[in-house]
Amino acid sequence: MYRTHSCGQLRASDIGKTATLSGWVHSRRDHGGVLFIDMRDREGLTQVVFNPEQAELYKTAETLRSEFVVKVSGPVRQRPAGTENSHLATGAVEVAAASLEILNTSLALPFEISEFSEASEEVRLSYRFLDLRRPSLQKNLTLRHKIAQNVRETLNKEGFLEIETPMLTKSTPEGARDFLVPSRLNPGSFYALPQSPQIFKQILMVGGMEKYYQIVRCFRDEDLRSDRQPEFTQIDLEMSFVEEADVMGVTEKLVAAAFKAAMGQDCELPFPRLSYKDAMDRYGSDKPDIRFGLELTDVSEEAANCGFNVFSGAVKDKGVVKALRLEGGAAIARAEIDRLTDFVKKLGAKGLAWIKFTESGPDSAITKFFSKKDLEAIGKKAGAKAGDVLFFGAGPWKSVVTVLGALRLELAKRNNLIPKEPVYKFLWVVDFPLLEWDEKDKRWNAMHHPFTSPAPGSDLEKDPGAAKARAYDIVLNGTELGGGSIRIHRKDIQEKVFTMLGISGESAKEKFGFLLSALEFGAPPHGGIALGLDRFVALLTGEDSIRDTIAFPKTQKGADLLSGSPSPVAQKQLDEIYIKTNLPPKKT
Ligand code: AMO
Ligand code: AMP
Repeated sequence: MYRTHSCGQLRASDIGKTATLSGWVHSRRDHGGVLFIDMRDREGLTQVVFNPEQAELYKTAETLRSEFVVKVSGPVRQRPAGTENSHLATGAVEVAAASLEILNTSLALPFEISEFSEASEEVRLSYRFLDLRRPSLQKNLTLRHKIAQNVRETLNKEGFLEIETPMLTKSTPEGARDFLVPSRLNPGSFYALPQSPQIFKQILMVGGMEKYYQIVRCFRDEDLRSDRQPEFTQIDLEMSFVEEADVMGVTEKLVAAAFKAAMGQDCELPFPRLSYKDAMDRYGSDKPDIRFGLELTDVSEEAANCGFNVFSGAVKDKGVVKALRLEGGAAIARAEIDRLTDFVKKLGAKGLAWIKFTESGPDSAITKFFSKKDLEAIGKKAGAKAGDVLFFGAGPWKSVVTVLGALRLELAKRNNLIPKEPVYKFLWVVDFPLLEWDEKDKRWNAMHHPFTSPAPGSDLEKDPGAAKARAYDIVLNGTELGGGSIRIHRKDIQEKVFTMLGISGESAKEKFGFLLSALEFGAPPHGGIALGLDRFVALLTGEDSIRDTIAFPKTQKGADLLSGSPSPVAQKQLDEIYIKTNLPPKKT
């Protein structure tokens, strides 16, 4: 038998019992002839003491090194007064070793198994099996497990069926590049790994499954960031005969229950709702972080007739002037303003106008262009008090709010406006536009995906830009946690949307023919949502990167450093699938 207790289990009430523990040598201390080791397993640490009087045992114990795997038995005893460790759950007791078995040895470690190890992420990912022993990764993966199990529990109770969808499939349109898999049996043809199960889950609804869910891997070949991995996991669901409120209601239930299971806290339901327009107007983002204020104010009206051409000109050109008020920010240094100006210019802004409000009045290089009345009106609208500074963006609405939205986050970070203690602010963003104009390619793109139903009253022919989508995003602390929609369930509407998106009849048939065909055979009204599980876990554990919520993540360059993938393959393997690589010559 390897163990009677875990390394996190023994308490004062166990004193006098004999315990057998198995685990790793976490640390080793030699205290004047007495040898202490902290033994570690998933549940915690226990102090084990080796006494030199047991010469044989002691000699073996002296050979122990970090991360050796050991089995120890002995009586549980109280730690001598003054040596208890109140930071450790097992800190009142220790095991006096009576036997020791070395189950395995370990090489000297490339880095310390500790949260404070300074090893680079590259080294840690190369030795992920060691990195995974860190308490925070153990905690994160445990929490991930709890959430996944809880989601299943909730959805099972709600009558959902867990159904798997194919991994070797056809391209799905979530807007990223596909990962392709060549087919040996069909030379020259390729599967695509799913960017999401979108089309299949819709077809499951046509297939009468009514309520589907899956905790499912999705694959997207896109530029990676801290909240994006090439393969990631969605909590994916779809329901028949539903409206927005039904899907959002189930999602709130699922999220609240998972949140409770993971954090032991309730969250207030329903989550607040914000229209896309309001979110953009007030926060400059369709995934606003509402843990702090710093909202944008529209001062277009107040600035429309001022003498500052940048402002009045923007309004004349049907654009806007928006202000961001940094409370108590009037002391801001010129160098800092220059830095912020560079920041917005990198995002495409022409500049960053600013006015400081001081006891002796507004202060800025641009105040000379304004009448006293205009300055007062702008200050009043933006709520500026003496000691504040206003930053302005002027130009087309979308670019102004987007830039100021980014500036808002930057100012919040630099001025410590984001609460340090964990706060969880969920919200829904609704009433999205259906389409988004791509200025570069001069065409409409779907804001969500092409299967999203237009809202009633949308006129795709007359005013495509004004068409609203029956879509909803769930946002947590400024991160898009998930998104979904009520789908198009009629072929004529689906075809109309494809046409708007410039997907010709032929190409629609070729790409999505199987969905279009399904829509012709009694497709019920349906809708759903997908939540990013990795992001959910990262937000709840306070991790900056979703890499710390995934057992075997990939680097920024899409590499798995542990297994060494991706890697070249033998020519024979390529021959079997009729693939010839066409690499540029290697630089030497
Ligand atoms: P969407 O593309 O918005 O919707 O994806 C849903 C959620 O998945 C997460 N996510 C990611 N997480 C990590 N790495 C990535 N590369 C990544 N991409 C997306 C996000 C996102 O909110 N089929 C639709 C859903 C639907 O309409 O039902 C879809 O996939 O948290
Ligand atoms: P200029 O007239 O270009 O010297 O700009 C005067 C001030 O207005 C500078 O502080 C610029 O950074 C700022 N500015 C210029 N264009 C814009 C704009 N579109 N939005 C906000 N501020 C701007």
